[in-house]
Amino acid sequence: MSILITGGAGYIGSHTVRYFLEQNEDVVVIDNLQSGHRNAVNIEHFYENDIRDQEALDRIFKRHDIEAVIHFAANSLVGESMKKPFEYYHNNVYGMMCLLNVMKDNNVNKIVFSSTAATYGEPMNIPIQEEDETNPTNTYGETKLAMEKMMKWFEQGYDIKYVSLRYFNAAGAHRSGAIGEDHNPETHLIPLILQVPLGKRDRIYMFGDDYSTIDGTCVRDYIHVMDLASAHYLSLEYLRSNHSSNIFNLGNGNGYSVKEVIDVARKVTNHTIPAEVKERRAGDPAVLIASSEKAKNVIGWSPKFDSLEKIIADAWNWHVNNPEGYTQKFSKESVRGAST
Ligand code: UFG
Repeated sequence: MSILITGGAGYIGSHTVRYFLEQNEDVVVIDNLQSGHRNAVNIEHFYENDIRDQEALDRIFKRHDIEAVIHFAANSLVGESMKKPFEYYHNNVYGMMCLLNVMKDNNVNKIVFSSTAATYGEPMNIPIQEEDETNPTNTYGETKLAMEKMMKWFEQGYDIKYVSLRYFNAAGAHRSGAIGEDHNPETHLIPLILQVPLGKRDRIYMFGDDYSTIDGTCVRDYIHVMDLASAHYLSLEYLRSNHSSNIFNLGNGNGYSVKEVIDVARKVTNHTIPAEVKERRAGDPAVLIASSEKAKNVIGWSPKFDSLEKIIADAWNWHVNNPEGYTQKFSKESVRGAST
């Protein structure tokens, strides 16, 4: 049987595809390539389709013997989500509705879902636990929370079991340097910092230094993308053992300030990386740190790359080897859809 990975050509999706192939799973990918890269997945069964195209999705389910779905396909930029709520509701919430509907029609009853710390909003407690209040402060987090709730009701109605994984700050790249992070536009701190030693920008701007944190800059919990990938596999194994649906945080449990991240990047790249303070970015909570005890205890997750230096070193390895990301490798001929 096969595992369908939606959004498998995206950043976290492609690393998860790689991890599942390393575990000898049979993988089928669907991705509309709105932000994913065809060359990020070296796989035979790749479909360039949108999950909202239920007929195409249904053909894929019928062509392959799908056992479970790992669902990444979604819009995921906080700032953009505030300006384009229609797109976020349509792709994320309606997309999830289409996916669950086709799963139901094809009697597929397991899904692992890519959720986010943005479901919590401004945290009441640090570290954040799964039972803490969810009160999103942006459209992106709100749509992901709506998707989680939809799965709950589809479980009631159709017995589709789910695991929802709330990631904190994903970073790093596969150790081979063959795949990594390539967003356009890039908005995330670590790849933006690394653009300085790559010669693509002359400095990094720090958004605010007047937060009540150790040095005034925002603190985040950075988690290696391959540790996220392994959590998806453990979640699938958990569902395969007929466990009930569940929600897990995924983070290291360590917080690093923006200044600390820049310092570690200076060490890894051996570059001075000039930094300048700018005004705060709207909607940024001061501190986001996960408690991942539940994932450790229930699915046996143990993050391997818990040092920020290792995470940044792997990201750096990818960027040095692929300064233009995937663009120089892209080939239209290699793309095909479910209609072919
Ligand atoms: N930052 C800067 N300068 C930059 C870019 C970012 O100072 O040029 C700061 C941000 O203000 C923030 C921190 O670096 O304090 C991290 O910012 P990112 O944009 O890298 O990540 P976010 O914490 O905003 O968001 C990420 C994901 C979200 C997810 C969230 C959960 O992009 O999807 O983590 O923690 F919801």
